[in-house]
Order: sequence, then C-alpha cells, then structure tokens
Amino acid sequence: MEDETSTSASAQVQESGAGSVKQQVSNLVALSLRATVPEVDVEPTVEVCTTKFGDYQCNNAMGLWSKVKGSGTSFKNPNAIGQAIAKNLPAGDVIESTSVAGPGFVNIVLSNSWVAKRIQDMLVNGIKTWAPILPVKRLVVDFSSPNIAKEMHVGHLRSTIIGDTLARMFEFSNVDVLRRNHVGDWGTQFGMLIEFLFEKFPEWEELGSQAIGDLQLFYKASKEKFDNDAEFKDRAQQAVVRLQGGEEKYRSAWKKICEISRNEFDQVYKLLDVQLEEKGESFYNPYIPQVLEGLSNQGFIKESEGARVIFIEGHKIPLIVVKRDGGFNYASTDLAALWYRLNVEKAEWIIYVTDVGQQQHFDMFFKAARMAGWLPDPNEKKFPKTSHVGFGLVLGADGKRFRTRSTEVVRLGDLLDEAKARSKSELKQRLTDNGKIVDWTDEELEETSKAVGYGAVKYADLKNNRLTNYTFSFDQMLSDKGNTAVYLQYAHARICSIIRKSNMDVEELKMNGKISLAHPDERVLGLYLIRFAEVVEDACTHLLPNVLCEYLYNLSEMFTRFYTNCQVVGSPEEPSRLLLCEATAVVMRQCFHLLGITPVYKL
Ligand code: ARG
Repeated sequence: MEDETSTSASAQVQESGAGSVKQQVSNLVALSLRATVPEVDVEPTVEVCTTKFGDYQCNNAMGLWSKVKGSGTSFKNPNAIGQAIAKNLPAGDVIESTSVAGPGFVNIVLSNSWVAKRIQDMLVNGIKTWAPILPVKRLVVDFSSPNIAKEMHVGHLRSTIIGDTLARMFEFSNVDVLRRNHVGDWGTQFGMLIEFLFEKFPEWEELGSQAIGDLQLFYKASKEKFDNDAEFKDRAQQAVVRLQGGEEKYRSAWKKICEISRNEFDQVYKLLDVQLEEKGESFYNPYIPQVLEGLSNQGFIKESEGARVIFIEGHKIPLIVVKRDGGFNYASTDLAALWYRLNVEKAEWIIYVTDVGQQQHFDMFFKAARMAGWLPDPNEKKFPKTSHVGFGLVLGADGKRFRTRSTEVVRLGDLLDEAKARSKSELKQRLTDNGKIVDWTDEELEETSKAVGYGAVKYADLKNNRLTNYTFSFDQMLSDKGNTAVYLQYAHARICSIIRKSNMDVEELKMNGKISLAHPDERVLGLYLIRFAEVVEDACTHLLPNVLCEYLYNLSEMFTRFYTNCQVVGSPEEPSRLLLCEATAVVMRQCFHLLGITPVYKL
C-alpha cells in the first residue's frame, strides 16, 4: 500500500514535469523521506552536487540523525539513514543511480534519457514550460521612481534596469507583477515650481510639453529665486497650501509640470524597453490620514518636538510621519502606499529598488508596519513580506561618483545614445575589415547597434552583485572579450550561424530527432541547460539578477567547450548536436530577454 501511493505520487511529479529540476528531485526526496522516517516531518534539502559523483545531492541524513538518535531508532548512524533515503527513492525515469558518501550525503545521478527528453520537450513546447514554480501569486516591484522636475540620475537608471529584470523574471515564473513607478510628484518643491511657471510663462496653459525647455534648469532657476527672493518664497509657500487645498488653477499647473517630466522619463523608458505603471506619491496622499489614524489608535504615534513620530526599536531617531508644519512626508507616503498595496492590491511581496543609502528608511518603516501587525513575524510566516533591493553607486573612471564632463548631471538619454553610437562604429569597422559591410542594410546596422549598445549598458550593471559600486566604462562594457553583453551576443549569433549553415531542418528535427548525451561535454551542456529554471528561481528568491548573468556566461563557456570537442556539422551526430545548439540558443535568448536585452542573430 505504502509503495503504491508513493509510486503514483512520483508518477504525477514526473509526468507533470512542472517546476525546476531541483524541485522535481526534491519532490522525489520528499517521498523517500516520508517512507524512511515517517515519524519526522522534514523538508527535503537538495543541492547541486559539488563532487563528480552526482548531479544533485540530498543532505538530509545528518540533520535527521540528530533528531532520531537516542529515540530507539533502528538506524545506526547518519550513513545508514542516507542509505535508506537512497533506497526509498521512488523508482522512475528521472534518476539513473545513487551513491551514499560519508555521513549520509546521497549523490543522485540523473538519467541521460530523462535529461534529453526534458530538453526536447522544451524545444517542442517552448521555454515557458521551464518556468519555476514560486510560492507567491502577486507582488509589487517599486522601481525607477524618479522625482518630478529633478534630475533622473544614474541611480534611477540602476533602479530601472534592476527592477525591470526582477519584474521580468517573476513574470516568466507566472507571478502577477505590479510594476510601480513611485515618482516623487508631491511635496513642497511644487509651490516654488508653480509660482515660477506662472511668472515665466503667463500663458502656461497653452504650452506644449517641450516649451519649458529643460525642466532641470527650470528647477534650478526657481530654486535660486526661492532662496534669494523673500517675496517669491512667501508666494511659493502659499502655493503649496493652495495646491494641497485642491485649488483648480494650482492643480492644473501641477499637472502640467508632471506631464512635462513624465514625457522626459518616458523617452528613457522607451529606449530601455521598460514598462512601468505610474502611481506617484500624490496617489497615496488621500490615504495618509486614515492610515495614520489607525496607527495612532493602536498607540504607536507619539508627539516629539512638535512633530508626530513612531519610535522604533533599535533606532535612536524616530520615524517622522507628520512634520512640524503639519505636512506629510516620504515616510507617511510610504506607509500609506504599503497599506494600499497590501489591502487594496493584495500583493504578497512588496519589493523596493533604490540605492543602499535609503536602507535605514526602509528598515524603519518595515519595522513600523510589523509593529502595527500589517506584516507577520518574519520567523513565523513568509508572506506577506517586504524587501528592500539596495544597490551601490555608479562610479566614473576616477573612482568618484559618475558624472559627465563638468559637474553636470548625466543625462540618461545621452548616455544610451553614446553606447549605441560607439557600438555602431565598432560594428561598422569590423564589418568593413571582414568585407561584410555590403551584406548589411542601414536598418540592420542601426537595430543591431541599439541591441548591442543598450544591452551592454544593462548587462554591465546587472552582472555585478547589486550591492557593490560599479565603475561605468564604455570601453569595458563594449569589449567583445570577457564577461560582457557584446561577447555574449557574439556567442549567441555564432550558434545561430552554425544552425543556419547546417542543411538540416531544425523544426523537423525538434519533432522527430533525438538528443543523445553520450559525449561528456554533451552531458555537461545538457545538464546545465536544464538547470535554467532553478537559476531563475534562485535569482528571484534572493532578488539577485547577477545570478542569471553568471549562468548565461557559464552557459556560453560550456557551449564553447562542447563545440570545440564535439563536431557538429557533417558528423554522424549532427541531428542530435544541432538540437543541443538550438536549445542553447533558446535558453540564451530567454536569459537575454529576462535581462531586458534584445538578442542579435547575426553579427
Ligand atoms: N523617489 C525616490 C528617489 O528618487 C525613490 C522612491 C522609491 N520608492 C519608494 N516607495 N520609496 O530616491
């Protein structure tokens, strides 16, 4: 009876083929654990094997031993438990063999035919069938989030790139992602901007979105006036009150300024191919009073030096939620936004992507939310939860904060244009040297330069652990050697050209061919391909895009080894090897897609 249940359950697991390979192996191990130690409730711990004796390994034995020893168990030592776990693994087509090492580590070797079939199924049914299964249904990624009329700086570029990749990885994993642009569109600076608008452009209502010119200069000029002209300052302060009181003229001037800013931001998003839904700070403004009232009724809000604050354990300074002048601030807005995301949007995970400099702010307001009971104790329950995805600075060649030429800010559009222009001139040079320039249309040249140039900027940012500062260098990111997007684009294009050069019909092969993994380098490549899902899972779980970059780079290295040691075109194994080429190209393209990079098929 016992046996029957486990076989049928494992058959389901194997048949559905859903989830990552690690998840599937874990499911098998879970069944074995239930049979081996029915009295203990334990989660399977399965990792990629670190030795050559297996592909995956189960590490449960030692922990189990400490739980059962002395309880009259028949097991003599952890190794015996390992042996039993290995023996009780349900029979099926996933596992080829097992061995038990030292204190009970169970090495698991996957069967070649199963690995091959998994790759072939993906080729037929699409890479979407390799999506990992994540324990969350809906989440918010709060990213990019520049401030109206202020500089959209390289920090916002990092937030945009990292946030977009996280969103793409979750979307691929079938999670409902709310991509939120929490733009700074509210605050006292609008009083001065509005008054300045009235003064400089009396016919402001008729203005098109370009007419003000540079909004950052506009901001600077109005700030200067604010600082030096007491009468103007007075008017600006009254303007804030009138705006917040909802006076029509002030509302529409505010809208106009936001619209101009939005147009500028949208140009950058368009270049980067990033989708975002704007719900700026102003959106949450109406919710602040009720949210604060709730917190106040719970007794968390205190009076301190004329402000209203929340004292938080472990922090010397309290979190200010109402300023001395009675106005709300960044923290009160974030509290209201979190309340809204949890209760109205029903998000289970709220992810904020900003520079590490804001860590304290997030730490404090997350703690406040936990105090209020909005979020469970992180040790007890996983969801709902909040995460701050911090990142380091972008540095220039001089090791200081990245700036262009003078002390001026970096314009993101210019930066992307330059990446494109540089990649175009290199591409042209290369094609001319190879005598291939005649084969390329202007449009192809333009599209390829865009894909390569913008991709290089994104990849240079994503490949580092986000917490480290990174040095912005066009020369480095556009090099075709080393771990760069350009190198990877070439690697992918080369695979496409191998497939083109073969005279076989890959579409037909997908349906009727068969993948063999007889050569060791074929097997290594095949096994690495099917790890794709668990890499995405890992990158999502830890919110680390660099994990995916590392995988992509390693994959291209493994492909090179395979291609060096295994003849493809003209060999007896050509059909099978061509399918491995195709699978590698498909997985690489999916990685590119998740990183927001447009793959190039010809270079
Ligand atoms: N506007 C902020 C800035 O430029 C980032 C906002 C991040 N999101 C949030 N919910 N606080 O620094």
